[in-house]
Amino acid sequence: MTDAVRLTQVRKTYGKGGGAVTALDGVSIGFPRGTFTAVMGPSGSGKSTFLHCAAGLDRPTTGSVELAGVELTGLGEKQLTRLRREKIGFVFQAFNLLPALTVAQNIALPLKLAGRKPDRAAMAEVVRRVGLHDRLGHRPAQLSGGQQQRVAIARALVTRPAVIFADEPTGALDTRTAREVLGLLRDSVTAGGQTIVMVTHDPVAASFADRVVFLADGALVGELYQPTPDAVAERMTHLGAWAVV
Ligand SMILES: Nc1ncnc2c1ncn2[C@@H]1O[C@H](COP(=O)(O)OP(=O)(O)OP(=O)(O)O)[C@@H](O)[C@H]1O
Ligand SMILES: [Mg+2]
Repeated sequence: MTDAVRLTQVRKTYGKGGGAVTALDGVSIGFPRGTFTAVMGPSGSGKSTFLHCAAGLDRPTTGSVELAGVELTGLGEKQLTRLRREKIGFVFQAFNLLPALTVAQNIALPLKLAGRKPDRAAMAEVVRRVGLHDRLGHRPAQLSGGQQQRVAIARALVTRPAVIFADEPTGALDTRTAREVLGLLRDSVTAGGQTIVMVTHDPVAASFADRVVFLADGALVGELYQPTPDAVAERMTHLGAWAVV
């Protein structure tokens, strides 16, 4: 299987000298195309740093990241921005929709930014997938949290990116709505062949993935295939992740 994203010996150090913090300590991992991976670990274990390095939002101190066959290390800012636009979709906890734009305009925005024609077929497909056909003319403020996150997912899917990175996508949603959103992400992988990498604190959210990888102190310390919520929670307990919850 080909990897959509591959990190090789990625280290990320913030600061210098005595105050330096090693957020990632030599991480190597691949994410095969068409798979859904959850990234878990205690607070401060390096999850956000990992996601930012993998998505070209931040540069590793050493090591390399290859995304959709492109080595990110040598790219300049302009090339990186373009690659992010064309190859990556993002879903955040806080939705990050543009309030002045309609649902349809928010979904089409990545196509517009990439200078692509509004692709009617791609739009219709993602709107159908997330079930928003009767909300296309609404503004984000007129939608529930779950509906807003569905718009954000449609926006992430519309360019058919090589990978979607999600950072706590259900962190702001109630349990039932969270499950709907996770079901959509799952379906985009199973039926649509999308690749997804999702950071989460929630064992139930992680159980929607094909695989869970665990970070502790900036290093990968294990993985779990076909995760159940109980198996994930058990593993997290051993990492000391619930100590502060
Ligand atoms: N810009 C920064 N400058 C200095 N240190 C940083 C910076 N960003 C992160 N760190 C440190 O790197 C380590 C990893 O942080 P990171 O945000 O990746 O953790 P996380 O697993 O996402 O945590 P959380 O679950 O709380 O979001 C932490 O020790 C953090 O304090
Ligand atoms: Mg974080």
